[in-house]
Amino acid sequence: MAQHGTITQDNHAALWHGRFEEGPDAQAVEFETSIYVDERMALDDIKGSIAHAKMLAFTKIISEDEANQIVNGLESIQKDLESGSLKIDYSAEDIHSFIEATLTDRIGEAGKKVHTGRSRNDQIALDERLYLRRFIPEIQNSVLTLIDALTLIAKENTETLIPGFTHMQHAQPVTLAHHVCAWAWSLVRDWQRLEDSLKRMALSPIGSGALAGSGLPLNRKYEAELLGFEGVTKNSLDSVSDRDYCIETASNLSILQMHLSRFCEEIVLWATTEFAFIDLSEKWSTGSSIMPQKKNPDFAELIRGRTGKVYGDLFALLTMMKALPLAYDRDMQEDKESLFDACDTVLSCVKVFTSMIATAKWNKEKMADACKGGYLNATDIADYLVCKGLPFRTAHGVSAKLVRIAIENNCELEQLDFETYKECSPLFEKDIFEKITPLACVQTRKTDGGPAAEKVKEQIEELKQFAKNIK
Ligand code: ARG
Repeated sequence: MAQHGTITQDNHAALWHGRFEEGPDAQAVEFETSIYVDERMALDDIKGSIAHAKMLAFTKIISEDEANQIVNGLESIQKDLESGSLKIDYSAEDIHSFIEATLTDRIGEAGKKVHTGRSRNDQIALDERLYLRRFIPEIQNSVLTLIDALTLIAKENTETLIPGFTHMQHAQPVTLAHHVCAWAWSLVRDWQRLEDSLKRMALSPIGSGALAGSGLPLNRKYEAELLGFEGVTKNSLDSVSDRDYCIETASNLSILQMHLSRFCEEIVLWATTEFAFIDLSEKWSTGSSIMPQKKNPDFAELIRGRTGKVYGDLFALLTMMKALPLAYDRDMQEDKESLFDACDTVLSCVKVFTSMIATAKWNKEKMADACKGGYLNATDIADYLVCKGLPFRTAHGVSAKLVRIAIENNCELEQLDFETYKECSPLFEKDIFEKITPLACVQTRKTDGGPAAEKVKEQIEELKQFAKNIK
């Protein structure tokens, strides 16, 4: 029996060595091995092999006894990997070879039957799907936790004014609740995109063989069922030769990461002395080795920065697959590094972002003060006149004239006297001043999806419902 994962000489040779007289060059072995990357799919590989052995017995290709030996052997490998008593032998070519060799070391002849009717080409396509079918729900859950955290912030800030920007210029006032709900809705779509992708990963590729299926009476549907799939893929060539599910995942993760990068950009900006809208927890800030006063938003910056890596992963995958002819090509082995990097990076970024945002403090006064400058209420002046019957284009002109006067007088619109308003349009009445306070500007915007507190409360409810319907 193998000790500490060192597979015996007999079973150590590459799975394909039989045709060769010479062993591979040491440099060649080092170059082609993928075990350092694919070892994380060890448990998926074992799960797949257990189902495969059961199917082989079900179809009487191997005996019940052989299947039991294989299943028990694989379960012991799983147990020992989990406990750490079995270490991966990195001289194996890949995780499939390591597990098959270890199995044969442990149970002898029966182990040599586990690969019946199977190729590593359909095995890897299966392992990756099994891996993603457990990773994607994990990232989806982390996204839900973030949506929860944002909803909580929103609930407490439905009347916390904050300037809304377009072109990074003051536009119209909104509320902090409205702003963080905007973030949350983009995350809802990220969650849904991941969910959609799982539908396309619900079919099992195993039984597609190297490329042309098998002449043995395999029962693909039975094996797929054992593994929790909804059915089997339709074409053996397609099953072993595409990596679109990896690209789709990396693409969905890139979009999610893009959203995080945008939130982080705003946090970096809001944490500046000039804005000071947000005060990040000391737990989620760093200092400077030279400037004693510094409290830097490094975590937001790192998340923003790691977006480049995730996009790189997507592009590495797309480019690796470009123009590859059917069916399996070894190029495809290169998918895992990028896929797993995107998975790890995005998952940790979502989690860190959640902790960072949940522990931050909001400076309501600063945000409210920022709503006072920049003529955020100019549109509301125009809307006021529209309500009095003036065509919008004319009303826009009147409001623009008032803005010009305010700029000349170096004051805000609400600081101009009533006479000035009257000179610009006789339709103005004294109530104009109460109609253009930042809070009034927000509360009047009651369109569906608008920033008025009563509408944002509906959004918050819907976000909560979304999370509840999933759990
Ligand atoms: N390590 C390979 C991969 O990840 C597994 C399939 C190997 N197949 C082959 N014919 N060499 O793609």
